[in-house]
Amino acid sequence: MKPLLKEKTVLEFQSGNFRDLFPALENNPGIIYFDNAATTQIPESVLSAIQKYYESHAANPGRGSYDWADEAEEITAQTRDALANLVNAGDTDGIIFTNGATMGLNMVAQCWARHNLSPGDEILLCPSDHHSMVLPWEELAKEKGLVIRPYRLHANGSINLADLQGRISHRTKLCCVTHVNNTAGWVNDLAAIRKSLPEGAALNVDAAQSISHAPVNMQAHGVDFLSFSGHKMFALGGIGALCVSPRVRETMHPVFFGGGMADYRDGNPVYKKMEAGSPNMAGIVSLKAACAFLSGIHINPLKELTGHLYKRLLVNPRIDMLYEQKPYALDRLAGIASFTIEGWNSGELGDVLADNGIFVRTGRHCAGVRESVRISLQLYSSMDEIEKACDILDNLSEM
Ligand code: ALA
Repeated sequence: MKPLLKEKTVLEFQSGNFRDLFPALENNPGIIYFDNAATTQIPESVLSAIQKYYESHAANPGRGSYDWADEAEEITAQTRDALANLVNAGDTDGIIFTNGATMGLNMVAQCWARHNLSPGDEILLCPSDHHSMVLPWEELAKEKGLVIRPYRLHANGSINLADLQGRISHRTKLCCVTHVNNTAGWVNDLAAIRKSLPEGAALNVDAAQSISHAPVNMQAHGVDFLSFSGHKMFALGGIGALCVSPRVRETMHPVFFGGGMADYRDGNPVYKKMEAGSPNMAGIVSLKAACAFLSGIHINPLKELTGHLYKRLLVNPRIDMLYEQKPYALDRLAGIASFTIEGWNSGELGDVLADNGIFVRTGRHCAGVRESVRISLQLYSSMDEIEKACDILDNLSEM
């Protein structure tokens, strides 16, 4: 069978020519893709893994004793293992496949909080986070009489730890934290937040934006729930994971019931009772290959690129950053910059950039913030691309 894509050598892979590893970028040499916080492009290693899997066979894991079904089961177990290693979960029992971060974050509300929190119990959250981290709690709080304690960000978009600490009480049962906010890009300090919380309070982390950038360490940071999506870590859309710590696993209850759950009341491992129905094998295969891809990255240019992006944007006096940034803070940013330009709305700015082959996100980014243009980088972004975008922004006429 003819391979779909040509193989890249390890040398090419390690030399930092990341763009060459992504067929969509190779096939579109004129395009500058700066919407990576919305979705990442898919490397050829992930595409070939999916093709190889389906060229060899399709099978439903855990539902047959023939070789193909066994192999699908083995791949599923290896993917859980790869994800547990990626986030240092300690074991695979709490790695639950979802259809993405939004589903994982909603499951924390519906599968855990609904059954374990009582009227008057308090939840800490940040209202300007992504709606998937806010709306599930507003709905459940209304229904169950829970109390939301909103905490603030600093002007630079990082979590204001003193403000968060000031809102903790003996009724605090859950703290919701976005590891990297999708408009600010700041990498929040999970260890410091965990240290501030009462031992009994659960820590719920949205890692959708950090999973491909910043190390996530569930055990070291005392994270109880961790959600992320495949499509922001070089895998397919429609797959993701909710990773759950041992101390809260036992108290989770399924929302969906169906195939593969005959013994779900035994509750062990927890993923057995949380994954009703046939799994998304293409997604699982893609996640496994994406974990291998991520673990093979030894040169990550993102910190340097982010620093350059901010320095370059801040040269333009007409640019109004959504979050104030000072040079000393640049090493804490994960490739995201959100801004407006006086006299232009974000849609118009996005159109001008798109007309020049530069793709960014515009609007309010599914979050409780004002509208802006968002540039979000990935390891295949380059200094030249940043220069080109900033030159266009520098030369915009007054509106
Ligand atoms: N949550 C994604 C974003 O921030 C879609 O763009």
